[in-house]
Amino acid sequence: MKVFIRIIIFSVVLSLCYWGFSNYGIPQVIPEAPPVEEKISGSMTMDQYIALGGKIFNGKGTCTLCHNPVGGRAPLLVESGKDGAPIGARAADRIKDPRYKGKAKTAEEYIYESEVDPSAFVVAGFGKPGTNDTVSPMPATNKGSIGLSEAEIGAVIAYLQKSAGVQVTVKLPTGAAPAAAAPAAAEPQSAKTAEEAFGKHGCTTCHTIPGIAEGGDVGPNFKGLSSRAGSRVKGLSPKEYIMQSIVSPDAYTVKGFEPGTMPADLGEKMTVKELDMIIKYLMEKTG
Ligand code: HEC
Ligand code: HEC
Repeated sequence: MKVFIRIIIFSVVLSLCYWGFSNYGIPQVIPEAPPVEEKISGSMTMDQYIALGGKIFNGKGTCTLCHNPVGGRAPLLVESGKDGAPIGARAADRIKDPRYKGKAKTAEEYIYESEVDPSAFVVAGFGKPGTNDTVSPMPATNKGSIGLSEAEIGAVIAYLQKSAGVQVTVKLPTGAAPAAAAPAAAEPQSAKTAEEAFGKHGCTTCHTIPGIAEGGDVGPNFKGLSSRAGSRVKGLSPKEYIMQSIVSPDAYTVKGFEPGTMPADLGEKMTVKELDMIIKYLMEKTG
């Protein structure tokens, strides 16, 4: 245990040192493109539509924040594993489950329903704590901070079916905007404001943040965060605690919340500037 604590302290100190360098502009790798408004054109082929679905799944849909092999807080969708076959294939069995009370009649409808009304059926063991698997912690992906359009949700379903190797039953959207150029690959870019950075890294999918309209409730509401931050972990200043919560979220778990829910690699996906802006905002605007 002592060693463990020492490792944590060491990594915090290390990250603080690194942070100190940020003013000198140490460059960072940014593996993901920022969320951009995807163009869905009338002339898209099914292959392009599926590829777009993959981009949304891994990007602006924020699906992989929870559906990933690391955290274990949401069932795997693309990979097969302890949750069974990929969702494209197992969706057909979900609607035959005796616990299923939703409206879906087909596998495609089940995936659609899961995205827009997650509590219609909650996979056993994944419900919000204390709800006996009746309330899903997943936010509706057609509303709030994710806000996917119908055509984008269709693209994600097509991608999930394709990656499961089953027949793609989703139809290409019709009546979409007149043929536009295929979406250009966006250059990875650092967010310009803290607000933008919260959206880019999915913080608002799980947290409600003072001053930002749309937010989630998977993690703590940030109202009063800067006031309570100094009393969370002995020896950490408010700023150090907020920093640690982002770069090594598993070092301390807020009471009443599930450990391992917040992605552990957010710190690596951010630019130093984004991390700076986020911490500054949380220190100054959360009361
Ligand atoms: C904040 C975390 C979170 C995010 C973000 C999220 N999900 Fe989920 N999702 C869950 C959890 C937890 C479950 C299991 C509980 C349930 O059945 O609702 C789930 C269940 C599902 C299921 C049903 C799985 C099954 O085995 O029956 C589908 C389909 C799904 N999510 C799709 C998506 C897609 C697509 C996105 C992105 C557009 C997404 N989710 C974003 C947490 C999340
Ligand atoms: C998939 C959901 C999820 C995402 C995305 C997420 N968080 Fe969290 N966060 C949580 C949960 C759950 C907790 C509480 C459990 C814990 O302490 O680990 C938490 C705790 C925190 C805390 C501590 C709050 C307190 O009251 O002490 C901070 C600060 C925080 N997150 C910041 C962020 C920031 C900044 C981002 C975006 C860069 C982010 N989180 C993204 C789920 C998430």
